[in-house]
Amino acid sequence: MMKSAGYTLIASFNPIHSIILKNHRRLSLNILNGNSAQSKNSTAYIRKHQLHTKVVMVAGQYLPPWFSVAPMMDWTNNHYRTLARLISKHAWLYTEMIAAETIVYQEKNLDRFLEFSPDQHPIVLQIGGNNLDNIAKATELANAYCYDEINLNCGCPSPKVAGHGCFGVRLMLDPKFVAEAMSVIAANSDVPVSVKCRIGVDDHDSYNELCDFIYKVSSQSPTRHFIIHSRKALLNGISPADNRKIPPLKYEYYFGLLRDFPDLRFTINGGINCVDEVNSALRQGAHGVMVGRAAYHNPWYTLGHVDSAVYGAPISDLSRRQVLEQYQVYGDSVLEKYGPHRPSVREVVKPLLHFFYSEPGNGLWKRKADAAFFHCKTIKSFLEETLVAIPDSVLDAPVAKAPSGREDLFANLSDLLPLPYETREQEQEVLYA
Ligand SMILES: Cc1cc2nc3c(=O)[nH]c(=O)nc-3n(C[C@H](O)[C@H](O)[C@H](O)COP(=O)(O)O)c2cc1C
Repeated sequence: MMKSAGYTLIASFNPIHSIILKNHRRLSLNILNGNSAQSKNSTAYIRKHQLHTKVVMVAGQYLPPWFSVAPMMDWTNNHYRTLARLISKHAWLYTEMIAAETIVYQEKNLDRFLEFSPDQHPIVLQIGGNNLDNIAKATELANAYCYDEINLNCGCPSPKVAGHGCFGVRLMLDPKFVAEAMSVIAANSDVPVSVKCRIGVDDHDSYNELCDFIYKVSSQSPTRHFIIHSRKALLNGISPADNRKIPPLKYEYYFGLLRDFPDLRFTINGGINCVDEVNSALRQGAHGVMVGRAAYHNPWYTLGHVDSAVYGAPISDLSRRQVLEQYQVYGDSVLEKYGPHRPSVREVVKPLLHFFYSEPGNGLWKRKADAAFFHCKTIKSFLEETLVAIPDSVLDAPVAKAPSGREDLFANLSDLLPLPYETREQEQEVLYA
């Protein structure tokens, strides 16, 4: 095994990894074959042999993470990622999107945007942009921070992002530009690159158009990994939050991509709420699963099961009290480090506000937190003042049994699968044969 630029490169083809590769192929077809019992065994086997916490390249193929936390603006900042990493050692963590222009124009102030603690590996930087020079420069500057992957945002529908020029999800309408941007990103970084996109935009929502996008980007750039938020974006002025609710999820498009692009890697995203559903997607053949809102709104239950239920690590006896003790050390060190420019106690505490989701004492704890924000100067004093609201039985218990997911989440997909993709080139060949 060779170490290269912070990630693991398996240079020689060894038997375990050849099984992984074969299984990846076979797993991709499960939705078509209804072969989930077999895939369960294969997946368990793979999990037993590979914890998959670093970027793994197998015979030139990049395997995406089984579980990742989605990039979320204002949410997946350093504070949240620190909390997430305390709960799960194996989940991959995506940064919130950082515009290439921000990185370029803040060259003297880069740590503020790009620095992270080494504990946060594996971590992916997501950038956004529509200017090749800025994307190149931003990637080059970010490369020094040793992220594990660089991702380009082609899915954000926010009018602030998609409304001005071609940025976020509008990039899906210009695959040639995306291919150029991805080539530039790959040329300026030492790590794998990926694209996060929707399944379509407005009326450009046919399966064939999605495939055209994937085909052009992957054939004209080194992109091998696509994260598919499985609903289209509407650019008619609805809010970003509605754009994550109103357009229906079409997982059948995702599984169509697995079938039609067997040499690429796809992560499924959108509406997946717990590890049981993550495992259900993996059993159906998904290469990787990305979870956003559930990992933020219920971090303890969503992330607390990832290491054991997804990666096969021993069940942890970590308690919320232990997590809070470690988070307090982090939080107070941040408050000390940045002096007058430091974040407020409220900002550092923000990711904890969902930590006791649906537990006894949660409502009282939040009311105490609101009062404590006015006078607490440290995270230690904040926790001392507020945690009296939470019973010891909640604070000291390890994560309880994982909640069951919806059984019908991926039901009937084989009936819904779109017709296989044919590239325009193939159509032409048939026409002139
Ligand atoms: C508050 C918030 C901010 C988001 N910011 C980003 C972002 O910066 N980049 C991005 O690609 N997606 C962003 N998203 C979309 C998520 O990454 C994800 O695709 C979406 O929430 C669907 O996944 P989920 O159903 O698991 O939440 C954001 C979502 C939320 C809720």
